[in-house]
Amino acid sequence: MFEPKFFWHGADYNFEQWLDYPNVLTRDIELMKAARCNVMSIGIFSWAMLEPVEGEYEFGWMDGLMDRLAENEIGAILATPSAAKPAWMSQSYPEIRLVDEYGRRHPHHLRHNHCPTSPIYRQKVRQINTLLAERYRDHPALMMWHVSNEYGNQNCRCELCLQAFREWLQMRYGSLDAVNKAWWTAFWSHRYTDWSQIEPVDPSVHGLMLDWMRFVSDQVLDFYLAEKEPLQEITPNVPVTTNFMWPNVGLDYWTFASHVDVISWDSYPRWHSEIEDWRLAADTAFFHDLHRSYQQRPFLLMESTPSVTNWQGVSRPKRPGMHVLASLQAVAHGANSVQYFQWRQSRGGAEKFHGAVVSHAGREQTRTFQEVTAVGELLARLGPVLESVNQADVAIIYDLQNEWALDMAQLPRNKDKNYQERCLAHYRQFWQQGVTVDIINSNFTEFSNYKLVVAPMLYLLQEGVAEWLCEYVQAGGTLVTTYLTGVVNQSDLVFMGGSPGPLKDLLGIWVEETDVLFDHHQQTIQLTNKTLSGANYPVKHYADIVHSQGAEVFAVYEQDFYAGSPAITVNQFGKGRAYYLAARYDDGFLTDFYGWLAKMLGLKTAIVHPLPRGVTAQVRTKDTEKFIFLLNFEPIPQTIKLDVPAAVDALSEQVITDAFTIAGYGFRILKLARGIV
Ligand code: GAL
Repeated sequence: MFEPKFFWHGADYNFEQWLDYPNVLTRDIELMKAARCNVMSIGIFSWAMLEPVEGEYEFGWMDGLMDRLAENEIGAILATPSAAKPAWMSQSYPEIRLVDEYGRRHPHHLRHNHCPTSPIYRQKVRQINTLLAERYRDHPALMMWHVSNEYGNQNCRCELCLQAFREWLQMRYGSLDAVNKAWWTAFWSHRYTDWSQIEPVDPSVHGLMLDWMRFVSDQVLDFYLAEKEPLQEITPNVPVTTNFMWPNVGLDYWTFASHVDVISWDSYPRWHSEIEDWRLAADTAFFHDLHRSYQQRPFLLMESTPSVTNWQGVSRPKRPGMHVLASLQAVAHGANSVQYFQWRQSRGGAEKFHGAVVSHAGREQTRTFQEVTAVGELLARLGPVLESVNQADVAIIYDLQNEWALDMAQLPRNKDKNYQERCLAHYRQFWQQGVTVDIINSNFTEFSNYKLVVAPMLYLLQEGVAEWLCEYVQAGGTLVTTYLTGVVNQSDLVFMGGSPGPLKDLLGIWVEETDVLFDHHQQTIQLTNKTLSGANYPVKHYADIVHSQGAEVFAVYEQDFYAGSPAITVNQFGKGRAYYLAARYDDGFLTDFYGWLAKMLGLKTAIVHPLPRGVTAQVRTKDTEKFIFLLNFEPIPQTIKLDVPAAVDALSEQVITDAFTIAGYGFRILKLARGIV
């Protein structure tokens, strides 16, 4: 298991761009030390400089770099260079270039655009990876392998990929007849009579397209495993990772997660944009929690910008304080590193105006460099936090395959389906209360520790999921689920008997039909008892018309032909309870509902109540201590009142007994003995 001995602080160092600048390395090392950096990710896009001509290698510059890093006690996260291939290779071996959905083979351009199936590309990758591993196996700088860069859904439609897809289908279904049944191909006369007729180009056959996405994800994973093989053989003790991205890139990261030694990911929130910073902070927190949850262990923040990006319509530099705050946010949610893209700003190419620790000015006296240094100094002081973990009472199911199926589904209301956004809306309520949340997949099996599981819009139920949800509630768990749940099985076939499919008994309801609303339509609900203080909570977009079959009615609709029918139900099932939110509700309702539920279930919250808007409290726990990260994502100072008699400031060791203020975009880290809430 990978466990770093100290917090890692560093950046992508694309030194291959600076080989003609003899003084750069010396200056960079000096600056790295000044910024308290202890790791650099190197070689990510360096294939053309390592193998300028087929079979002729130039490792000299990399040797020098590795040596200088080691001499200065800076570790190397050494990348395999498969994310960008050399031009000679694209020219000599056209089959390695991706073919798009219109059958066009891509020219040699951009990056991340190889065919994941091509045996030639796999062989070339194996060769360079083997050489790197053999050369640096005992090098003192080598700390970790960074396999490729941000694998995505390659979506290559070349003949090799199509053939591999058909073989994948044969393995999954056994016969063409089973495929035809699973995909409901009698629709629009799509029945296949030969495997060669199957092409992933038909958005009307949902089962086909869903399986294509699964295949591509599996194929990219297979490519990664092939990349990793020589590294593991030659350097069995060097941990391996590959940097993940936001989850909706078309890879099922849950299957990748068990094949890396540590999860690492690249986080680029759009601070100071149209979305208020505190909302964006809650969304970012969700993604940090997701990356922690993939392995239920701390992760690495492999990339973040130290200042600004350059690939958005408008990218604003982080305001003073935000860099330190955003970096600590990652740590608060379980990161054991803070790393950047990139160390030195490029002179040319598409990223020459992307932020970097060392800008074109080349100086230490920049705001960015100073804030990066402040992060380095903080991480050095946070050593005791390193072995701590985040413990969650609550899990939110955010299922990537469900997202793919929902995106494809043609529903009565297609506008604003917003699956991910709804998961974020539920999550925000916990973030704002300082309740730790895990983000899990629907077929996650370690659910017994959660007091509450929230499953918004779980439209597609993979095999076994209904069973575990029933088992979980039966044993005393609480489940909250919503409209558009339990609609299709894993082949995207609708459950006979209607929604919520195999969850009917658990929820004690059945859904007759769904009203969908335009934005100008009005619908509200009324609670059947006074559990929540608000009234007439508004409904948006979707409203299931449901019948109770044993569930208690918690709220009813107030308007239209279905006024008086259930809008929220709760069903006692075994020792637990299962809620069905039949309609889409806004933040006002969710805040009241989850505030009430958190109290009822006694969810562990951090030590402050209520937290001012935009401030969250995230807890990392170890044997005897708890570290509470109080983070203020509003630009204004906010006052915090403790719920406990005293706490200790983890940085200054000062004892705090009174209310205190956190500056705008500021933070405070408190320490408590474990056992004190
Ligand atoms: C990442 C990528 C980096 C760099 C960065 C810019 O997605 O891995 O190589 O392009 O974006 O924000």
